[in-house]
Amino acid sequence: MAELKRSLGLFDATALAVGAIIGAGIFVISGVAAGLAGPAVILSIIIAGIVSSFTAYSYVRLASKFTEEGGPYVYAKNTISRFAGFITGWLWLFANIVAGATVSLGLASYVTSLLPTLPIVPIAILSILILVILNIVGIKQSSIFNAVLVALKLSALSLFIVIGFSHLNFSFYEPFSPNGIKGILSSAALIFFAYTGFGRPATAAEEIKDPKHTIPRSIVLALVLSSIVYILVGIVSTGLIPYQKIANSGSPITDSIEYGIKIYWLEIFVSFAAIVATVSVLLTTIIGVSRVSFAMARDNLLPKFFSKMHKRFSTPYLSILITGAVMAILPIFGSLKQTANVTNFGSLLVYAIVNFTAILLIAKDQNRMRRYLMVIPALGLISCIALLYFLTPISWIIGISWIAVGCVYYVVIKHRLN
Ligand code: ALA
Repeated sequence: MAELKRSLGLFDATALAVGAIIGAGIFVISGVAAGLAGPAVILSIIIAGIVSSFTAYSYVRLASKFTEEGGPYVYAKNTISRFAGFITGWLWLFANIVAGATVSLGLASYVTSLLPTLPIVPIAILSILILVILNIVGIKQSSIFNAVLVALKLSALSLFIVIGFSHLNFSFYEPFSPNGIKGILSSAALIFFAYTGFGRPATAAEEIKDPKHTIPRSIVLALVLSSIVYILVGIVSTGLIPYQKIANSGSPITDSIEYGIKIYWLEIFVSFAAIVATVSVLLTTIIGVSRVSFAMARDNLLPKFFSKMHKRFSTPYLSILITGAVMAILPIFGSLKQTANVTNFGSLLVYAIVNFTAILLIAKDQNRMRRYLMVIPALGLISCIALLYFLTPISWIIGISWIAVGCVYYVVIKHRLN
């Protein structure tokens, strides 16, 4: 098997993670989250960031042990069992296919905020289809290209924060928490979406230089950077516009500029950055989904055709096409809020499993003092499960049905596994 070239250093790996993190979550879902919590969405952003950092610690521990490509699927397969690996990969695919649909709806919201005559759902579907084709012909998001996209979205958000701070209307922070603790936690469960993607360097482990050190550092740096940006964006956006006005908006950040800052070029620049950000998240999501389904098919856990490579383009084209087709159908059925809830059901369960595998790993440590660090993944496990409670009932029904289908499928294929 050809070896992947280890070409990504700390800067590139951090940019890869930030590229996968900052997208529809902050640019779009933050509005819906503000609708649930009011200005206390700032606390929801902090809570979701803390839950993510517990899980990131688990990733860091696992990523420095398992340097094979694949992330959670590989961790569960190697630490618990093949069935656990299958269910984790199955849920990971579910979470990321629905995440792709969510991000495409976010992308379409900003496109239609610039060109209001265009319809949202067809734009969302079209964007997925275009990126599926680009993926099949083998577009590689080069690290330089990715760094440019990351710089663009960070500079747009930084400008928004800097200019926004001088336009804040403090009366908009009152009442701070109109829906109390339940509103804050429901909002945290939703805005959690904005943090997902921080594990991305782990899925590209074989392309990273000195992965045992670089991957953990890049995950921590990316998460700290994104959390700071998110908290500041939360403070500024709720201080520029009454939160009720962005509760149902598809483009809350530009709405807050239009209402509270009134600088047209900034609105256009931020819309453009939102489109760029969502395109890059969507692209990496499609790459991730196709590679994980490819890896699972190679291990006989999904039908063999998922691992079929295109002769000319050398990409797993059937896996890209099938998962992309499913992703492209979803925007017809759900609004962005619904798809984000369903995504989070899958992501939170995957993260709970990642935390559990980290507990198993740390429990084997010979050093008693180091074993105490198990408390961090334990907090991660508990907090992921706690946030699941605040997701919508429909996301539970859809998620549990998906797990049930996976279990039946596993029973059917089990006899074929060696
Ligand atoms: N965290 C990614 C986003 O917000 C999925 O778009």
